[in-house]
Amino acid sequence: MFSNTPFFTLALAAISPLVASTPTYRRDGSSSKNSSEGLSFEFPLSPKIMLISLFAPEDVWTQSLGLTNNITLPGLSPLFPSIGCNDDASICHMTTGESEINAACSTSAMLLANEFDLTSTYFLIGGIAGINPYMGTTGSVGFARYAVQVALGYEIDARQIPSNWTTGYWLFGSSQPGEPAKTIYGTEVYELNTNLREKVMKYTEGIKLNDTEEAASYRSKYDYSPANQPPHVFKGDVSTSDVYFAGNLLDEAFGNITSLWTNGTGQYALTAEEDNAIFEAMVRAHLAKKMDFSRVVLMRTASDFDRGYGGSDAVTAFQAEQYGFEIAIANIQIAYTPIIEGILNDWESTFSSGISPQDQWLYNADIFHNLVQRKREVKEFDKMIKRAQRGNLRR
Ligand SMILES: *[C@@H]1O[C@H](CO)[C@@H](O)[C@H](O)[C@H]1NC(C)=O
Ligand SMILES: *[C@@H]1O[C@H](CO)[C@@H](O)[C@H](O)[C@H]1NC(C)=O
Ligand SMILES: *[C@@H]1O[C@H](CO)[C@@H](O)[C@H](O)[C@H]1NC(C)=O
Ligand SMILES: *[C@@H]1O[C@H](CO)[C@@H](O)[C@H](O)[C@H]1NC(C)=O
Ligand SMILES: *[C@@H]1O[C@H](CO)[C@@H](O)[C@H](O)[C@H]1NC(C)=O
Ligand SMILES: *[C@@H]1O[C@H](CO)[C@@H](O)[C@H](O)[C@H]1NC(C)=O
Repeated sequence: MFSNTPFFTLALAAISPLVASTPTYRRDGSSSKNSSEGLSFEFPLSPKIMLISLFAPEDVWTQSLGLTNNITLPGLSPLFPSIGCNDDASICHMTTGESEINAACSTSAMLLANEFDLTSTYFLIGGIAGINPYMGTTGSVGFARYAVQVALGYEIDARQIPSNWTTGYWLFGSSQPGEPAKTIYGTEVYELNTNLREKVMKYTEGIKLNDTEEAASYRSKYDYSPANQPPHVFKGDVSTSDVYFAGNLLDEAFGNITSLWTNGTGQYALTAEEDNAIFEAMVRAHLAKKMDFSRVVLMRTASDFDRGYGGSDAVTAFQAEQYGFEIAIANIQIAYTPIIEGILNDWESTFSSGISPQDQWLYNADIFHNLVQRKREVKEFDKMIKRAQRGNLRR
């Protein structure tokens, strides 16, 4: 799949004389000393692409792309203390660490570092996720428009919910499930550049996704499509929650919350633990002119179903070996590789100057409309936010 492209020949050539000592730069947060060894870079680095993984297995890049020049910065995860770049620093990679807190802190440390000029960098987030079987299957590759922080709200234990409620989750400031929130924190929903999404998805046309007989056999227990079909590339939105939820009832409840936050335009498809946290760090960095929020791609590959097949017990289904993990990891590399090549090859003609985002950027990237001027269409929504902000002050 990879070795017949010039890009990968180059990348592999770059790592073949395997590095005896890793070229490193280290900014030491505890003293005022920077140290640098074997690095030929001039700071600030301005990579065309910053790949973002969430945990170690998703790092399919450091070895394959030769991202072995380590930039160690204070504020990154202690488990993943450095950002790796290739020899001309055109491609870099970081791992944030799992869940919302790690993702926010690590992303901020990377974005605010003076060692980088990321104002024209494309950020490619690539991680595994749970999948809504009505949107895809294990191994499927989803490209998101929205990320929704679905569990940000009130919760009461399922055994104590009123008899006419469908779930124990309801939104801040509302009085029952199904009502929109009246109190807003600002991290609930982010919308990405869908024109960029179209462009990068084009590069994936014709790719052959990884699959295995074991994964196919497990998914055949579902009696509907696309759950029981081979994996595919699709468009779908991602939920963010520190709680690793599962089962059709919570999935439907959070699907409903996705719909509320996106005014019916979002479709809950994938579930993960980091994306809203990464995006809040990015919106703040954008406001500080450290990056461009219209240059962000969120791709998640499906490692497991968010709910069981017909008649299966929710906990048994959740804990079952679904054989989705390996193919999801493989498909991060398979789907992003032509995109990386495309961005580099078409840099001058297409990407260098940026891809304009859609006109009706519903939330204008974040719910407080920080990034662009308010539009007439969202005036009503603004009023709701104002009321909610007053509500915040009263809490
Ligand atoms: C450089 O980073 C890689 C990937 O995170 C890590 O495995 C390696 O130990 C680091 N090397 C040094 C010298 O810090
Ligand atoms: C270390 O590097 C940072 C970022 O380039 C720079 O702001 C700082 O002045 C450097 N410190 C020293 C002691 O060179
Ligand atoms: C549940 O019943 C209460 C009391 O009758 C009512 O006020 C409320 O609107 C109902 N909620 C739902 C979600 O049906
Ligand atoms: C999927 O990936 C695995 C692990 O890398 C590999 O062994 C297998 O041959 C791949 N399958 C296909 C159909 O490409
Ligand atoms: C989701 O919303 C639909 C439509 O309002 C409702 O019928 C359903 O009960 C909700 N599901 C859950 C689990 O809250
Ligand atoms: C929400 O959707 C409704 C119905 O499609 C539409 O009339 C309204 O303008 C939308 N609101 C926003 C803020 O986009």
